[in-house]
Amino acid sequence: MEVKADARPFHEIDCDALVVSVFEGEKPETGVLADLDQRANGVISSLLETGEFSGKTGESVYVPNPGDVKARRLLLLGAGKAEDFTTDNVRRMAGTASRTLRGKKARSFAFVRRSSLAIGDSAQAATEGALLALFDPDKYHTSDKTENHLATMLLATGATNGADADEAKRGIERGRIIAEATNYGRDVINEPSNVMTPTALARKAEEVAKSYGLELDVLEEAQMKELGMGSLLGVAQGSAEPAKLIVMRYTPKVPSQETIAIVGKGITFDTGGISIKPADGMEKMKYDMAGGATTIAAMRAIAQLKPSVNVLGIVPATENMPGGRAQRPGDVVRAMTGKTIEVINTDAEGRLVLADAVAYARKLGATKIVDLATLTGAVSIALGDVYVAILGNNQAWVDEVIGAAKKSGEKLWQLPLDKEYREQIKSEIADIKNIGGRKAGTITGAYFIREFVEDTPWVHLDIAGTAWNDSSKPYLSVGPTGVCVRTLVNLVCG
Ligand code: BES
Ligand code: ZN
Ligand code: ZN
Repeated sequence: MEVKADARPFHEIDCDALVVSVFEGEKPETGVLADLDQRANGVISSLLETGEFSGKTGESVYVPNPGDVKARRLLLLGAGKAEDFTTDNVRRMAGTASRTLRGKKARSFAFVRRSSLAIGDSAQAATEGALLALFDPDKYHTSDKTENHLATMLLATGATNGADADEAKRGIERGRIIAEATNYGRDVINEPSNVMTPTALARKAEEVAKSYGLELDVLEEAQMKELGMGSLLGVAQGSAEPAKLIVMRYTPKVPSQETIAIVGKGITFDTGGISIKPADGMEKMKYDMAGGATTIAAMRAIAQLKPSVNVLGIVPATENMPGGRAQRPGDVVRAMTGKTIEVINTDAEGRLVLADAVAYARKLGATKIVDLATLTGAVSIALGDVYVAILGNNQAWVDEVIGAAKKSGEKLWQLPLDKEYREQIKSEIADIKNIGGRKAGTITGAYFIREFVEDTPWVHLDIAGTAWNDSSKPYLSVGPTGVCVRTLVNLVCG
């Protein structure tokens, strides 16, 4: 779908539907709302009077033939309380509008700007919301596919001067880059594991690197062995698919001293290995590479937005399978840093591949690291599907990432990482063991990774609860959410 700014008055915009938000408690007495109410023969005041519509978030009313406007339909959306209104409301409302109108077979709609939020920010949020909402996970049906005729979204900005129009245009462009990258990542996550093997994931990274001008290096198992990555290779050895260590690199025109490494867990299928998972729900473990796909997606946007820092995107990609050569519980492996690990549970494989990947990020010169992973089931117990857990070894860096998330409309909640938790991953025979028992599973998982980043500022994002949406929402389809792409892009690009 194309997104364009349109400065014409709302009633002159010729399109299938006009989308107008109404704040809670708002009366159609002044401005756009009064004008619209008059043109639509009082339909807004009548809906408000009867209480059929009150402007609460999530409410919507669809009005056919709304009267003296060029649009053929009117969609009213509840915007909630004016004082609580943020760009995230814009994102969700644009999402709700595009999913609703896709269902009504519309080809075009105009989204009327009604808030006093900065015009560029709200244009970006509206673009993101609409494009993200139209993500279609339905790839392999051969009939009854989701129909989409939506080709154009117009942002009725009401811009009266050139500066505002330019700002809206820039916001749309940035929103489009970020949303398209996110949807690209979601498509990669959504692929079944027989398609999205480690080799295929590396090819995706190659496709992105070629299209957007990034350097790419894909390490094979032999090279990983030479580097001493026994922790990553221990996981890979149970699978017939060769592991890949994907390294993407963005370098700014003006040299920078800073290198941010984004490191994403790329387990293309997690059976649990010899500590095998129960059959029920195991099919979902195709999304265990969401961190990796998110890394590739973020790099795709970063390459286009061209920030002024060096950025590495690193994805340790392998399956976790219980093949004849698979590692066994009790095995001891040696990571690239030289630390020895007792593998108590082969299903705690994410931290094992990340241990070598974060160490490699340091070797390549990372000055700050963010890793993201579908690391623990425990994070869903703690935070459900609402918040991503964030943990780190440097509060300033944690705060920076939380700040970037706030700007993106993504929710991060910090969990503690005090030294006391180290006790739980002490091993009798090695430097560390890979599980810490039932208590504080998300924290001990993060603590394990911490042991391999040494003194580099690092944060860990556990996206196991948030990377997959189980039930569709008005602004979001079921399936991969692409969570954290926006946060990472904002973090790096400001
Ligand atoms: N990939 C899983 C975590 C996961 C679970 C992601 C559910 C999404 C939904 C991870 O590799 C894993 O199996 N973690 C174990 C760790 C445990 C053995 C310490 C878990 O969470 O049960
Ligand atoms: Zn696992
Ligand atoms: Zn896993």
